[in-house]
Amino acid sequence: MEYLEITENLSFSRIIQGFWRLTEWDWDIKSLEAFIQGCMERGVTTLDTAEIYGFGECETQLGRVFAKNPSMRNKIQLVSKTGIFNKDGFKYYDTSYERIKKSCKESLQRLSCDYLDLYLIHREDPCFDPREAGRAMVELKKEGLVREIGVSNFDPFKFEALNEFTENQLCTNQIEWSPCCFEHIDSGMMDMLTQKSIHPMIWSPLSRGRIFTSQEAPFVNVRQKLEEIGNRHGVEPEVIAFAWILYHPVKAMPIVGSSKLSRLDHAIKALDVKLERWEWYEIYTASGEKRLR
Ligand SMILES: NC(=O)c1ccc[n+]([C@@H]2O[C@H](COP(=O)([O-])OP(=O)(O)OC[C@H]3O[C@@H](n4cnc5c(N)ncnc54)[C@H](OP(=O)(O)O)[C@@H]3O)[C@@H](O)[C@H]2O)c1
Repeated sequence: MEYLEITENLSFSRIIQGFWRLTEWDWDIKSLEAFIQGCMERGVTTLDTAEIYGFGECETQLGRVFAKNPSMRNKIQLVSKTGIFNKDGFKYYDTSYERIKKSCKESLQRLSCDYLDLYLIHREDPCFDPREAGRAMVELKKEGLVREIGVSNFDPFKFEALNEFTENQLCTNQIEWSPCCFEHIDSGMMDMLTQKSIHPMIWSPLSRGRIFTSQEAPFVNVRQKLEEIGNRHGVEPEVIAFAWILYHPVKAMPIVGSSKLSRLDHAIKALDVKLERWEWYEIYTASGEKRLR
């Protein structure tokens, strides 16, 4: 496994395991414990969750594993997020000072931990006050409840605004990126992160699995291209999808969302695949959404 220095105090495994779907997997504590141990044996030590996943249930299940194995906690890097809430089925965002401080403490309680390695603001909030959110995040860091702070799904303007009020301490942006999703390439975010040497965490690197399950043209086209290039390199098409993300100079960290360690292995295998530059562009244009001028 390769490890990336996120800050001088924190390194992440280049491949991260995500737990968004954990409550759908319907696992008991033993299965979850075995899965996390499988991640750790592979060197995948960075784990991603959020307070909204399963409305707290995801953090609670992870917390049961950490409570049972206290020595596990210091061998992993734990990421959680705040900002998305639900009132009687109605979704809204809250990134106020009080909410961030309260949410962090609640997440720690559910996770049976006394600190998070990284705490993120989950979504861009249209009703966002970067002074207030920044003050809360900086305080959490000073209090030792979180080691580092960052954001998720932010555009360059909101990133810069919050960075100013966190004394430039934002150390990542967790963003969606795949051969079928170009939002952050188009916004200039990838260029900004590359320029600042900030490594993004990448969610839905396989477009929520649709690259391998959907019959819609963009996904089918990408799938066929990944198969073709996979045949050339003698690896599975999934491996090529991850190799495409890893190729970019921003040094992104894909978050695997699968419940299967065999699929986590695809991402790990991608660390050893070196695409040709023209192959990267074959994948970039495969969905039909991107054309080179
Ligand atoms: N910050 C944010 O706003 C945000 C948003 C969404 C997600 N995330 C994070 O990113 C992580 C990854 O997101 P994701 O789960 O959408 O990632 P993903 O890897 O794109 O999708 C995972 C899904 O695809 C399926 N899959 C994977 N390979 C497949 C294949 N070859 N054939 C068929 N199905 C396949 C998996 O099913 P199996 O389990 O059966 O393999 C799983 O349901 C999440 O767990 C979460 O931690 C963050």
